[in-house]
Amino acid sequence: MFLKTVNVKKHFGEVKAVDGVSLEIEKGEFVSIMGPSGSGKTTLLTLLGTLDSLTSGDIIIDDEDLSSIRDVDTFRSKKIGFIFQFHNLIGYLTALENVELPLHGLMPIDKRRAKASELLDLVGLKNRMHHIPSQLSGGERQRVAIARSLVNDPLLVLADEPTGELDSSTTQEIMDLMKKINQEKNTTFLVVTHDPEVAKRTERIIVLRDGEISREELVKSASIEDIMTLKNSTLGHQLLQKESTDPYLEKLGLFREGKLTREGELLISLFDKVEDL
Ligand SMILES: Nc1ncnc2c1ncn2[C@@H]1O[C@H](COP(=O)(O)OP(=O)(O)OP(=O)(O)O)[C@@H](O)[C@H]1O
Ligand SMILES: [Mg+2]
Repeated sequence: MFLKTVNVKKHFGEVKAVDGVSLEIEKGEFVSIMGPSGSGKTTLLTLLGTLDSLTSGDIIIDDEDLSSIRDVDTFRSKKIGFIFQFHNLIGYLTALENVELPLHGLMPIDKRRAKASELLDLVGLKNRMHHIPSQLSGGERQRVAIARSLVNDPLLVLADEPTGELDSSTTQEIMDLMKKINQEKNTTFLVVTHDPEVAKRTERIIVLRDGEISREELVKSASIEDIMTLKNSTLGHQLLQKESTDPYLEKLGLFREGKLTREGELLISLFDKVEDL
């Protein structure tokens, strides 16, 4: 298991921000965390990101128990990337300088520059590299933040409401980008969100309530959703009714002389299978 937490708690005095979270996440998974305000989402990310200490419990990431790591800063800078809602870009630095910042002290300047510009290219900002944040749109700034979170080739990216301030089409773009990176680099993503549209595009939703996991949900793949859409379309209805006079459906070979063909039957059996998943 790539990431495992065992009965993790973080209490601030009386406040039980995280109160017994046990979860397992595999390498390359794309998981979302939902839950009401104050349910402990950000606190949990902070713990997983080694930015704060636990009250009790265990966290294991990439076979290392966080409590036994001597140099947490090095562990973090090598393995974890962060994306925050307000992207925390430094206002007087260019996109390129912001992205290369996490590499300071790790490699010489020309290598840092090369790596940072490669990532800005990946997020589609090749020709905005020398702009400062105030000269970029909200979506562009968030893409800079994503590039920055990836510059150290992290195994795990922790994102706290990365699309919180964005409109729905920019949100989709940012999700597309994160999913592309997830697939190409097998980076594990953990994304806190209030947006059901964002959660639906992840593989699994973990819902927190009062510092505990209240529910977990596997999200069916987008392709499966597409088949469901087809089932609920006019075409789907005609197939399920087993009758149609639509000449185009005849041309597609789904009906012959108004009767369902074998191909039509096959499509219906697909609908049934999807229903059973
Ligand atoms: N440093 C702290 N000191 C004291 N209490 C804290 C601290 N950080 C968080 N809390 C409390 O812990 C609880 C969980 O906070 P957290 O920020 O994790 O919630 P959240 O789920 O991220 O909420 P939101 O959706 O509003 O961002 C809250 O009641 C909060 O007030
Ligand atoms: Mg929060």
